[in-house]
Amino acid sequence: MEITDNIETLREVDIEIVSKIHKACFFEGWSPNVIRKILNTSGAFGMVARHQTSKSIIGFAIARIAADECELLSLGVASENRANGAGGNLLSAVIIRAMAERARWLFLEVAEDNYVALKLYAAQGLKRVGQRLNYYENPDGSRTNAITMRCTLPY
Ligand SMILES: CC(C)(COP(=O)(O)OP(=O)(O)OC[C@H]1O[C@@H](n2cnc3c(N)ncnc32)[C@H](O)[C@@H]1OP(=O)(O)O)[C@@H](O)C(=O)NCCC(=O)NCCS
Repeated sequence: MEITDNIETLREVDIEIVSKIHKACFFEGWSPNVIRKILNTSGAFGMVARHQTSKSIIGFAIARIAADECELLSLGVASENRANGAGGNLLSAVIIRAMAERARWLFLEVAEDNYVALKLYAAQGLKRVGQRLNYYENPDGSRTNAITMRCTLPY
C-alpha cells in the first residue's frame, strides 16, 4: 500500500473547499468551522486528494485516532471525479497514517445502501461488525441503517 503523489495532509487553507465537497456529498454537510473543530481535537487528521493534472482538491478523508483505534469520520470525492481511484487512495493514506501512529484497528460507519463505499471498504479489508438501526437521516425524513466495519492494522 502506497500514498500516491496526489494525496496530501489536509491543511487550514484546504478547509473551505473540503467543506464544499462534503456538503455536496452528504445531506448533513459540514461547515468549515465544524471541520476545523474536528481537526483540532486530539488525534484527528485529514487527507486531501488532488486532481492528477489540475492539482485542485477533489476529495478528502477525515479520521481520528483514540488510544489504539483509528475511526474514519468522513470520506468524500467530488462526483465528477469518482471511480478514478481517489477514494481508495484516500483510505490507503488514512490506513498508512494510522499504522504510523501505532493504531491497531480501523473503524467506520457506513449507510447500508452505500454500495460503492461498502465495496471500497471491503476491498481494503474492513469487515462488518455491527448495525445501527435508523442511524442516518435522509432528505425526505426517512432513516437508513448504518453498518459498522472494522479491521486490524498490521504494524
Ligand atoms: C465512496 C466514494 C468516496 C468512493 O470514491 P471514489 O473515488 O469513486 O472511489 P474509487 O475510485 O477508489 O473506487 C472504489 C471502488 O468503487 C467502484 N466504484 C466507484 N464508483 C462507482 C459507481 N458509481 N458504481 C459502481 N462502482 C463504483 C470503483 O470501481 C472501485 O472498485 P474497484 O476497486 O473494484 O475498481 C465516493 O463515491 C463518494 O464520495 N461518495 C459520496 C460520499 C460517501 O458515500 N462517502 C462514504 C461514506 S461512508
